Amino acid sequence: MGRSDILVVANRLPVRRMRQGGKARWETSPGGLVSALMPVLKERGNGCWIGWTGQRSGSFRPFRHAGIRNVPVSLTREEVGDYYDGMANSSLWPLYHDVVRPPVYRRYWWYAYESINSRFAEIAAREAAEGAFVWIHDYHLHLVPGFLRQLRPDLRIGFFLHIPFPGRGLFAQLPWRTQILKGTLGADVVGFQTKAGARNFRDLARRFCGATLAPGGLELEGRRIQVDAFPISIDARRFDELARREETILRAEEFRRRLLGRKVMLGVDRLDYTKGIDIRLRAFHELLRSRLAGIDDVVFIQSVVASREQVEAYGELRSEVEELVGTINGEFGEVGKVAVQYLRQNLGPVELVAMYRAADVMVVTPYRDGMNLVAKEYVASHPEEDGVLVLSEFTGAATELEQALVVNPHDLEGLTASMARALRMEVPERKKRMRALRKTVFTHDVHAWAAGFMSRLAG
Ligand code: F6P
Repeated sequence: MGRSDILVVANRLPVRRMRQGGKARWETSPGGLVSALMPVLKERGNGCWIGWTGQRSGSFRPFRHAGIRNVPVSLTREEVGDYYDGMANSSLWPLYHDVVRPPVYRRYWWYAYESINSRFAEIAAREAAEGAFVWIHDYHLHLVPGFLRQLRPDLRIGFFLHIPFPGRGLFAQLPWRTQILKGTLGADVVGFQTKAGARNFRDLARRFCGATLAPGGLELEGRRIQVDAFPISIDARRFDELARREETILRAEEFRRRLLGRKVMLGVDRLDYTKGIDIRLRAFHELLRSRLAGIDDVVFIQSVVASREQVEAYGELRSEVEELVGTINGEFGEVGKVAVQYLRQNLGPVELVAMYRAADVMVVTPYRDGMNLVAKEYVASHPEEDGVLVLSEFTGAATELEQALVVNPHDLEGLTASMARALRMEVPERKKRMRALRKTVFTHDVHAWAAGFMSRLAG
């Protein structure tokens, strides 16, 4: 097998390891990013994806799956602890999300981060053909563009950050701020979810690295670096198609029957403290307490997917959320009728879309979120153009989805009032808003996003 003309480098491979009947096999991971990038990698017939397997032990050899070459980066248990649980998810993640939780900075996490970023870069340098395109993803791998440019100056290197990028007031806390910026500046194109992220990066690169402004971005040491916003999206047609399937419609009807015909408010999230699951449950509690709604009228379904369970703050969040659910149900539930239906399990695609379809109101309340694809998935799953989206102004999605009911998640009274308004909204207003939201989501889908970034990288 020759070297690749096009490569994706991301923390995770696009596959996950599944066990069935004692046998392990690779299965394509669900999600829009994978479905958007696979066609890009297959286009030239020799695409390659470099990433971690998600396993905390064992070493894995490269393999072909679904038409692309997967090159696993093997990490020891200790390395995962320092690089992924530590530097990526206990330092950078909270710092980039407005310090919703205090970031922790440890020098030995930083050393692991450096050495693992350099490992990713060495593998990419080995796998890439002359002049290849290499697209590096996210906050786990800020240093890869710089390392890779040193090893292979012939490559076209792109970097895209999937999460928010903070302003100077927060970013300047980071003990390794200059290294992170310099590493990222090794790319030819640096992409962010929003214009604000791109602006923050330009400002910081000038301040800490001596870069200067240039058309389309920056100039550093005689090199041009494009810096821009490329808001990510979803495979909207896939959600639409799933939502129109008979099995999905029947499942959604069954949900509504089982919920005794009450109005359905829905939250779907990775169990993460940035998502504002706590505040929306408090707002729902307020809604019931103030009798703006009763449990004969409405039920709140909160579905969560377990995430980053080795990180302490995530365990604490789980306890907090589960306590809140218990408190609300204890106070307002009846035998056979809960106020909050809490699900902590992975839902299959039909189950998830049926839930979106069944929901009258989708409540998306992050304190900070790079984009928030759940909001877009809800919109794409409503072909009958009904349903109300309540959306935090602190998500990237809010800059595009202007017809949502935009809320400030820090304002409990305001959020409660918006949730009540969403429940009462009449059909014509609901349809008008949803029609406009769908137009946005279907025009800017994930395929357009990937094509837009790649064409910028091609120059
Ligand atoms: O939003 C950032 C992100 O890294 C996504 O790319 C990913 O799907 C999600 O968080 C889950 O993260 P993890 O890989 O830590 O499970």
